[in-house]
Amino acid sequence: MIIGVPKERWPGERRVALVPDGAARLTRAGAEVRVERGAGAAAFFTDEQYAASGATLVDDAAAAVRGADLTLVVRRPDAAVVEALPEGSTLAGLLQPSGERSFFDALAARRISALSMELVPRITRAQSMDALSSQATIAGYRAVLLGASELPRILPMLTTAAGTLSPARAFILGAGVAGLQAIATARRLGAVVSAFDVRRAVREQVRSLGATFVEAEAVGAEAEGKGGYAKELGDEQQRRVLEAVAKHIRDMDLVISTAQIPGRPAPRLITAAMVASMRPGSVIVDLAAETGGNCELTRAGERVEAHGVTILGPVNLPADQPFHASQMYSRNLFTLVQHLTKDGALAVDPADEITGAMAVTYGGELRLR
Ligand code: NAI
Repeated sequence: MIIGVPKERWPGERRVALVPDGAARLTRAGAEVRVERGAGAAAFFTDEQYAASGATLVDDAAAAVRGADLTLVVRRPDAAVVEALPEGSTLAGLLQPSGERSFFDALAARRISALSMELVPRITRAQSMDALSSQATIAGYRAVLLGASELPRILPMLTTAAGTLSPARAFILGAGVAGLQAIATARRLGAVVSAFDVRRAVREQVRSLGATFVEAEAVGAEAEGKGGYAKELGDEQQRRVLEAVAKHIRDMDLVISTAQIPGRPAPRLITAAMVASMRPGSVIVDLAAETGGNCELTRAGERVEAHGVTILGPVNLPADQPFHASQMYSRNLFTLVQHLTKDGALAVDPADEITGAMAVTYGGELRLR
């Protein structure tokens, strides 16, 4: 099996799909791995490391993907790379299944199977392929650092000869993958942390990380959906949630919001009026910016100042920690490749529970739901 790894061309993307350790594992398993020179440079993986891993370095993207059975990417490749993909081959990456469709039309026209890493089902068997979770872990961590560096105050309590500084108060909205990592990170930095989620099942996890759980009256089992995800709330429950958040948020210094319901616009949890109630100098980092934002005032990829409160809507935080983000993503892809390999050859089976869920195009057909 030939596996191609072109350099990422998406603006600002610093991750690489396969790190040298992943390349070594795949070559040991019998694959031929072709990596475009410099593919790992922005994530601090050198060409020498790839060469030592057994991969073949090639001069351009076309040479990396030419003849490849499988091409591994982080983000959607550009048109030139798509052109160079062999007909009937497979492409796996974060392909934005909800994004512009013409990209998939072009792949289907050439009978390329596109496996979208966003669509790995959240089932135990697929856990080690779950790139959204691995990248959300990095994003949750990074969001706290970003927020902390914007705050005019420090996070930990300090008792010094120059007086005592009180700790910052951090509030995490949504205690899924990113939220739990944000809680842990804010705690490590010394903030007093509280969190809210509509799924009460996470209450114990929040507490075990040393944070307090903010309760919303009478929001309970109805908010729990399938597979550990939340459902959209009815009007009355939404009103109660907003009431609980409004009461709590005005005393917070740092708010990290991560609430999401897959495939839906981000739930609105922070209104403009709530922002106005916060102390000037407070910071909100809204991880749900790309799906509309948990905060009414968030603008994706921008920085907004309102009533002295800074609201950040970062869109690609994992790319800001490219070394570890790539390492985790590469491991997700390695497990996927193992899953797709039968007797040393690539076997993409759309009837398989995992592969079928991820296949956006297969056999010339568009399978977008
Ligand atoms: P997740 O699905 O693991 O967690 C989301 C949590 O939100 C769940 O625990 C869910 O119960 C909760 N939730 C849903 N509705 C809620 C509501 N009305 N009130 C309170 N909580 C509610 O998702 P994950 O993987 O942690 O990702 C979180 C967000 O971060 C997503 O929007 C994701 O797209 C985004 N993200 C952003 C990145 C960036 O660079 N900006 C990078 C990675 C993820």
